[in-house]
Amino acid sequence: MPNRKQWLEELRTRMIVRPIQEDERTRYGLPLGKEVSWIFNHAIGGGQANFDEPIGGLTPQERVMLYAYLNQKAHVDELIHAFAKLVPDLERFRNATVIDIGCGPFTAGLALANVVGAGVAYRYFGIDHSASMCEFGARLAARVEAINEFHSGTEVSFHQNIDEIDFGRIRGGEITIFVLSYLLASTSIDVDELVRQIKSAQKRVGLGATVLLYTNTGRESARKLYPDFCSKLTAAGFVEQIEEVELFKDSDKDRLIHYALFVSPPVSKVKTAEFFA
Ligand SMILES: C[S@@+](CC[C@H](N)C(=O)[O-])C[C@H]1O[C@@H](n2cnc3c(N)ncnc32)[C@H](O)[C@@H]1O
Repeated sequence: MPNRKQWLEELRTRMIVRPIQEDERTRYGLPLGKEVSWIFNHAIGGGQANFDEPIGGLTPQERVMLYAYLNQKAHVDELIHAFAKLVPDLERFRNATVIDIGCGPFTAGLALANVVGAGVAYRYFGIDHSASMCEFGARLAARVEAINEFHSGTEVSFHQNIDEIDFGRIRGGEITIFVLSYLLASTSIDVDELVRQIKSAQKRVGLGATVLLYTNTGRESARKLYPDFCSKLTAAGFVEQIEEVELFKDSDKDRLIHYALFVSPPVSKVKTAEFFA
């Protein structure tokens, strides 16, 4: 069972569950008046819909809220478990740069805040090509800040295009952590482009070690892209440290999840010319 803190439960109730349950369209177990199967198939499309378009009388923000209502809790729980298990030393997060690709509504950010707490400052960059996901993610992050669950030095920002992020001065030894939570569940992801984006962002952040945490459902159909992703990431200098399908038990239902952890060592030598170019 993941160790979900009380503030996280309260945030979810206040910002996701209550607004949906108190909406006048929500009746007879139909969130915002819609069948759950319709929501899964059409409004959130397994998490790969175009969340910026209205659909069936729902606004983009309502689509995102329904995603958070139906999918996010399970993903947050899995990430709490994964962060605690795969990166057990919380000191590793000190001044870390966390890059959450396909972040959705701040899913890994919530898990990270739950695990790391306010004791350690880090930078979190949430990237999602959906503006509505970024907007709702920013609202959830603002609430975490308001209740003092971030260190005062923690910085959180959301972006639609990873290539346009200015990561600031090149960092020295601090760790970079990429998170890909359920991003590869969609077969429409361009793996070559994703690995190029990761490599480019890694170089722009700094010289420290890089860790990449991948999570996905354990269902075989959703894992089709993994072998290609793994071989391309390996060719780009990452080493697969852990890969496993695990039965995850929580209060709702048991499910199979697929975890992987990749690492890329720190850059040991830098040509002086690179600094003065
Ligand atoms: C299945 S959801 C996962 C969201 C979140 N990581 C979670 O675990 O709850 C996938 C998200 O990735 C976004 N997405 C899909 N392809 C993307 C891409 N190429 N670049 C950035 N975001 C992308 C979608 O808009 C969606 O919010």
